[in-house]
Amino acid sequence: METRLLSASEYDIAVAGKIIAGGGLVAFPTETVYGLGANAFDEAAVKKIYAAKGRPSDNPLIVHIAEKEDIIPLVKEVTPKAKALIDAFFPAPLTIILPKSEKIGNAVSGGLDTVAVRMPQNKTACALIKAAGVPIAAPSANTSGAPSPTKAKRVIEDMNGKIDAVICGGDCDFGVESTVVSLAGEVPVILRPGAVTKEMLEEVIGKVEVSPAVLEGMAENETAASPGMKYKHYAPKAKIIIVNARRERYEKFVNSRKNAFALCFEGDKVTVPKVTYGTENSDLSQAREIFDALRTLDDMGAKKVYARIPKKTGVGMAVYNRLIRAAAFRIIDLEKPFLIGLTGQTGAGKGFAGEYLKSLGFIVLDADIYARRVCEKNSPVLSVLSEKFGNDIIVNGELNRPLLAERAFSSEKNTQLLNSITHPAVLELCRKEAVFPAVLDAPLLFESGADGLCYKTIAVLAPKELRLERIMRRDGISEHEARLRMRAQKSGKFYKENSDFTVINDGRDIKNQILNVLEEIL
Ligand code: TXA
Ligand code: MG
Repeated sequence: METRLLSASEYDIAVAGKIIAGGGLVAFPTETVYGLGANAFDEAAVKKIYAAKGRPSDNPLIVHIAEKEDIIPLVKEVTPKAKALIDAFFPAPLTIILPKSEKIGNAVSGGLDTVAVRMPQNKTACALIKAAGVPIAAPSANTSGAPSPTKAKRVIEDMNGKIDAVICGGDCDFGVESTVVSLAGEVPVILRPGAVTKEMLEEVIGKVEVSPAVLEGMAENETAASPGMKYKHYAPKAKIIIVNARRERYEKFVNSRKNAFALCFEGDKVTVPKVTYGTENSDLSQAREIFDALRTLDDMGAKKVYARIPKKTGVGMAVYNRLIRAAAFRIIDLEKPFLIGLTGQTGAGKGFAGEYLKSLGFIVLDADIYARRVCEKNSPVLSVLSEKFGNDIIVNGELNRPLLAERAFSSEKNTQLLNSITHPAVLELCRKEAVFPAVLDAPLLFESGADGLCYKTIAVLAPKELRLERIMRRDGISEHEARLRMRAQKSGKFYKENSDFTVINDGRDIKNQILNVLEEIL
């Protein structure tokens, strides 16, 4: 099919109106994003929208009207709250959901008994609806799953050859789709945040809830209030990772990553290739640019993109809602200590893995050293230990380690007692000193609870016989002694169940495995 490129002239809008009235598809600008429209009363035409976008048929469309009263035939009843919102806002980047009338077919409503209605304020959009003489059902004019188009050229990229026409009417003012609020239940619920904020709505109709899925992902078994919530959304080809960090920390982080692209704010001093989306303090500018920035990153061939986090308030909530989906909910939080926990069985090669991470620029914190430091001369831990395990474990103020070990490891109970005294102090020290990017090398990472400090954890494992050989060689001990030591260790199964990643050191290239894990984490 040849897709006609139309202008926003009166003549071209009349042509586009005829195409819609005749059952065709036309993409058109709105103040939010470009829409892909069909006659809302023509089931066959509406079905073509789903085909052109590759959209799942249970994800309903928004019906666009040109006059406030045009909503009346579309819904069962214009409730008082609906009327209040219409009077206060329409035309606006606001969509209202109400129980539908029998005029709305199943293709439009995705099989639901409600319908979403919006009156756009963009002049071209309004003129088109009037020219068509019918309400226009329209989702965003992108391929399903891709970022919404805010410029005509992005529509053409996705829809050329699949639809009858595109009205090329300039860039969209807001850049994120309309706020979707459901008035079908007791309390109004925001299903999708947009430029009309929660605060603005509450001023008119009182309490409004925000669906939990707006800022978080949905659990596998949850049913979606809005079918659009459950589908992959706004996803560019690049892997996006949101970085929660203030400007300087973000800059330092992103500038140290290899092969990275930055999705940042104007003025951020990054040295890697970057695309900006607005300024730090203007959520409206971020909204306007976010979708196009995502598409531009793909044009640049970005594979991995670190995005600076927007504020989640006001229109920022809408920006964050889109970005977190584009990032498939991946977030690195640099405002918390960012630690990668490293553990594993004795003799498996944890030390080697630590050295390798050090060579890659990570600071490696050794939990054994912390364990020594908390027992230094005059430390509170030392006095508790002497209380529990006997005064004679302290000689000239220093800890007699072999004696403590003998007593502490004489029974399970005593071992636990020792751990309950030292582990919290070690954790506290780690928490204080952890700096980014750091690895915490801890044999008892999980047993001590230190994994709770870590962003992700890696366990290094190796087959039994290999570990035995390594321990004997490394520590110059007999097979019997080595086996005793190994027996005190947790099983491979334990590490696999508790760690985020396992690295197997059995002759396979361990460096490559570590690089692959880092690729996943960072
Ligand atoms: O700004 C906008 O709203 C743009 C422009 C073109 O108007 N349109 C738009 O449509 O974003 P679309 O289809 O991309 O997003 C509509 C969202 C989807 O998440 C859909 O699941 C939800 O609204 N929706 C539509 N009807 C619904 C209904 N009856 N109940 C619950 N959610 C509904
Ligand atoms: Mg959409």
